[in-house]
Amino acid sequence: MKDQVVLITGASGGIGSVTAAKFADADAKIIIHYNSQQEKAVSLCNKLNGKEHVTIGGDLTNPNAIDKIIEQALSIFGRIDILVNNAGVYTEHPIDRINFTEWQSAWNKTINTNLMGPANLTFRVAKEMIKQGGGKIINISSRGAFRGEPTAPAYGASKAGLNSMGQSLAIALAPHNIFVYTIAPGFVETAMARPHLTGERKKEILNQSPIGRVAKPEEIAKTVVFLASEGTDFLTGCIIDVNGASYLRS
Ligand SMILES: NC(=O)c1ccc[n+]([C@@H]2O[C@H](COP(=O)([O-])OP(=O)(O)OC[C@H]3O[C@@H](n4cnc5c(N)ncnc54)[C@H](OP(=O)(O)O)[C@@H]3O)[C@@H](O)[C@H]2O)c1
Repeated sequence: MKDQVVLITGASGGIGSVTAAKFADADAKIIIHYNSQQEKAVSLCNKLNGKEHVTIGGDLTNPNAIDKIIEQALSIFGRIDILVNNAGVYTEHPIDRINFTEWQSAWNKTINTNLMGPANLTFRVAKEMIKQGGGKIINISSRGAFRGEPTAPAYGASKAGLNSMGQSLAIALAPHNIFVYTIAPGFVETAMARPHLTGERKKEILNQSPIGRVAKPEEIAKTVVFLASEGTDFLTGCIIDVNGASYLRS
């Protein structure tokens, strides 16, 4: 990874921050993206191995903010070699308990963050990668795309959309030496999963995997770094499950 420039969205969060640390350990230069948690991003930046990392903020639901993120990143590094579309939101919106306004608000927020954000960012980054002659794009999806999200259907739909986007772009971008991968984790120990990991619900979730636990952020981060490493070109278009055999598909 020496001198590779890696843009990680949502690097102020659980999976993103550990992924940034793993890339930094591998000598990459990291663009630590955040939305609201600037302090966390700056503190992470100061802790990472290596000195050439930067933080860039921006709300990915806003295409103008995406333009600014890319312009800032290019003005600093002149290129982006690896994009990790990791930022995301999960909000509950059970169809039998909310009104139409709440339903629309949840769908808009979820689709705009989890699908339109990565779509717009990928557009801007892929154009640069085409000029550069190559790159890698890694999308963080979810087991929910396959298993269903009964109390957060927009989340499941956003991740199914992300899976499909990754597959389509793997075909569209391979002639440009750009490879696109998707990772679909089950529950991971982060702020996003924390509200679910209490009491009876926690027991039920831990029992979903025969290993009897949820994933550690490191396990997702290691998979990201593996996909970003040399020798994985032919995995393009893949969707890798990291769910402790809690949901099997063939
Ligand atoms: N945790 C799980 O159980 C689990 C399971 C499967 C998949 N995933 C996926 O893994 C990814 C990372 O999740 P996590 O568990 O690490 O969650 P997290 O700790 O809550 O982090 C989420 C990150 O997304 C950023 N973000 C949220 N809304 C944004 C917006 N509008 N614009 C830009 N950035 C925004 C947050 O930025 P700020 O904090 O700076 O606002 C934060 O850095 C997500 O795509 C999630 O869907 C998680």
